[in-house]
Amino acid sequence: MKDSIKVGVIGATGYVGIELIKILSKHPKVKVLYLCAQKSIGKSISNFDKNIKKKSLPRISKINKIDWKKIDVVFSALPNGEAQKISKIIPENVKLIDLSADFRLNNHKTYKEWYGIDHKAKNLIKHSIYSLTEFSKNKIKKYRIISCPGCYPTSIQLPLIPLIKNKMINIKNIIIDSKSGYSGAGKNAERKFSFTNIYNTISAYGVGLHRHMPEIDQELSKISKKKVRIFFTPHILPMFRGILSTMHLEISGNNSAKKIYSYLKKYHKKNFFIKIAKFNSSLSTGDVINTNFCKISVCKDRVNNKIIIISVIDNLIKGASGQAVQNMNIAFNLNEKIGLS
Ligand SMILES: NC(=O)c1ccc[n+]([C@@H]2O[C@H](COP(=O)([O-])OP(=O)(O)OC[C@H]3O[C@@H](n4cnc5c(N)ncnc54)[C@H](OP(=O)(O)O)[C@@H]3O)[C@@H](O)[C@H]2O)c1
Repeated sequence: MKDSIKVGVIGATGYVGIELIKILSKHPKVKVLYLCAQKSIGKSISNFDKNIKKKSLPRISKINKIDWKKIDVVFSALPNGEAQKISKIIPENVKLIDLSADFRLNNHKTYKEWYGIDHKAKNLIKHSIYSLTEFSKNKIKKYRIISCPGCYPTSIQLPLIPLIKNKMINIKNIIIDSKSGYSGAGKNAERKFSFTNIYNTISAYGVGLHRHMPEIDQELSKISKKKVRIFFTPHILPMFRGILSTMHLEISGNNSAKKIYSYLKKYHKKNFFIKIAKFNSSLSTGDVINTNFCKISVCKDRVNNKIIIISVIDNLIKGASGQAVQNMNIAFNLNEKIGLS
């Protein structure tokens, strides 16, 4: 392995970009060479977060200032629709780790249907991998584009994929209620949620048609080899960060809540960043804030064949920047924990 991985971060001044910089600037195997945004050109990144030590970090520049020969990997924390444009100018030997939805959906028609954008790099979709690290560790290295899952899908798939793989739940009846802090909508959250006062109310949004639905359906369908369509309602809460997803599930076969708990505990034993809480325990986002951990609890329902699974993550870390760095670590033959634990 080389001495250090040379990195660029695009979308450096957004909520996710800032978290990425906090992690990457302390990562012992990384050297950050470019921090790019649209505005604030020439400014120091510490103007955006005083906790970031500006020493050895470059000033903010435009994307077209990147000398691609100098870097090994670029993280894109741009809004949807932007990374696909840039992907076309990135040389093949430079990895793109994208945090937007641009390469999450395998079918460009589905992408257009949900994001309203005609995909600008359709021929590159096959060179990308949807990488929720816990399930893709053995495959990441082969791909030049690493697409990080959405924040809600991360909290939901970490418990559901093992259970679907092992046929322990009814795939026709997956009901998910998720709650997120307003940072989930980026630094322009107020504009995106102009119908409500995000600092004083809780609001349901994207009801019946949230953009994370096709992504979750796609990944769960791959596992079950049958078409899965989840029921999902997200909510925005008057807190800055954190996601809590509550999943109402029907047990299949002769399984039980206890068996599901034991299986999940065994399955995730090898996954450092996944913690299974004590059976039947309650969880809060406070358990995982500022960490790359996902904590999962399996709870009994009063109805025999039902269970409730709760999952919590920090949307800006395990749901975005932390997961992206975890993916990078694996892609560059490092221990997944480096810079994250
Ligand atoms: N927030 C979350 O919890 C979360 C979780 C998972 C994934 N994501 C995804 O991660 C991406 C970033 O999210 P975010 O919440 O950090 O958004 P954000 O706070 O709105 O930040 C967006 C960043 O992109 C830059 N940018 C926008 N348009 C640009 C352009 N045309 N050229 C160069 N820079 C541009 C902005 O810089 P300027 O201010 O200079 O325009 C800013 O640095 C999004 O795709 C989002 O869906 C977010």
